[in-house]
Amino acid sequence: MKIPVLTIDGPSGAGKGTVSRALAQHLGWNYLDSGSIYRALAIACIQAKISLEDIDAVVNIAKSMQLEFVCADELQVKLAGVDITAELATEATGNIASIIAAIPVVRAILLAKQHDFQQSAGLVADGRDMGTVVFPQAEYKIYLTASATERAKRRYKQLIKKGIDANLSQITAEIEKRDQRDTERAIAPLMQADDAVYLDSSELSIVQVIDTILTLIR
Ligand code: C5P
Repeated sequence: MKIPVLTIDGPSGAGKGTVSRALAQHLGWNYLDSGSIYRALAIACIQAKISLEDIDAVVNIAKSMQLEFVCADELQVKLAGVDITAELATEATGNIASIIAAIPVVRAILLAKQHDFQQSAGLVADGRDMGTVVFPQAEYKIYLTASATERAKRRYKQLIKKGIDANLSQITAEIEKRDQRDTERAIAPLMQADDAVYLDSSELSIVQVIDTILTLIR
């Protein structure tokens, strides 16, 4: 039986994670947060104290890392049995993930891990290249974006809410840098798939984005 896939791609801070999790729960589908796989690899590389320029070492870690996704109230990620969920969320981890994500062999190795998520009644896959590279045959494709200023504001609020010290202009600069790295890289760059629906969430609430996508699916 063919398992339906809904891909939600877009830049960081566009609301993909929140929207994808809510949609997966609503539809009773599995959820793939592909960014967390790149982030987990970033943490594994930091733990191994390797240089990110040592491609062979990064590749070896990508091949051997033991990742586990535990569906509790919040998605929990374990690396070699240790819960790394909190570390995954930091800006530093995201920035290292984006450097590692530009290595072609690494992307090829992580492909199979992502395909494994296509199970249960369906899959909501969130990332940068879900509709273009990982699940090009997906039935439903969304390209979710928002202005860099709006995304930085959201990220800033999230961090402050968590009690983490944050600086809005620094976050805006980091978001712009990460956008540039993700869209300009040679392999699987962030871009809208030809058959994806473009959705700008700058002026929309999370509920409005979810409703718009559900209407499109139906
Ligand atoms: O989405 P998230 O911010 O967790 O992703 C962290 C980084 O991982 C991104 O900036 C991007 O470079 C990389 N990534 C990717 N392809 C994906 C998901 C994430 O290259 N499908």
